[in-house]
Amino acid sequence: MNRGAFGSWVLGLGFRVRYCLLLPMAIGTYCLLFSCLLFSCADPKFQQYLTEGEQLYIKNCSNCHQRNGKGLGLVYPPLAPSDFMEKNVEAVICLMKNGQTEEITVNGNSFNQPMPGVPSLTELEIAEIATYIYNSWEHEKGIIEVKQVSQSLKSCPSY
Ligand code: HEC
Repeated sequence: MNRGAFGSWVLGLGFRVRYCLLLPMAIGTYCLLFSCLLFSCADPKFQQYLTEGEQLYIKNCSNCHQRNGKGLGLVYPPLAPSDFMEKNVEAVICLMKNGQTEEITVNGNSFNQPMPGVPSLTELEIAEIATYIYNSWEHEKGIIEVKQVSQSLKSCPSY
């Protein structure tokens, strides 16, 4: 094969189909499958916590903090997003169950309204809600495990 023939083969239809179309498509598919495996798809538990957590949030929390997590003025603090949440994972786990009475500062605004806890929540439900709120609205903490919840609940402040 002389250069001219090779050259025209390279620029030919076969090459273009193989390397410009099929190869990128194959790489794309691999990347998609791989990232899917690496992240969400590989972890049905994480997905389940997110979905269950969202339902529990809507039922138990969205009355005050709103469905979109933005809260309500200076009465109900926002979760979407909240610097208080970022810094105080343990305290947030506690307040879901036991409520919160002390004055707190969220994104520079102070709030001083008692939040009633939901004592009937199980550790699994708290983990699910925590996973939901900690992976929504710019929070990206990943799954919050039941083990972490039971540990945090042991050291909650008692009022
Ligand atoms: C009756 C209204 C009400 C309900 C229901 C409620 N909260 Fe709150 N929440 C408040 C108030 C008020 C505060 C501020 C407490 C304070 O001033 O000490 C607060 C504070 C918080 C905070 C800390 C501040 C922040 O914005 O980061 C988080 C997190 C939070 N709530 C999450 C939840 C979750 C999760 C639920 C559901 C399990 C829930 N709340 C249910 C009213 C409510």
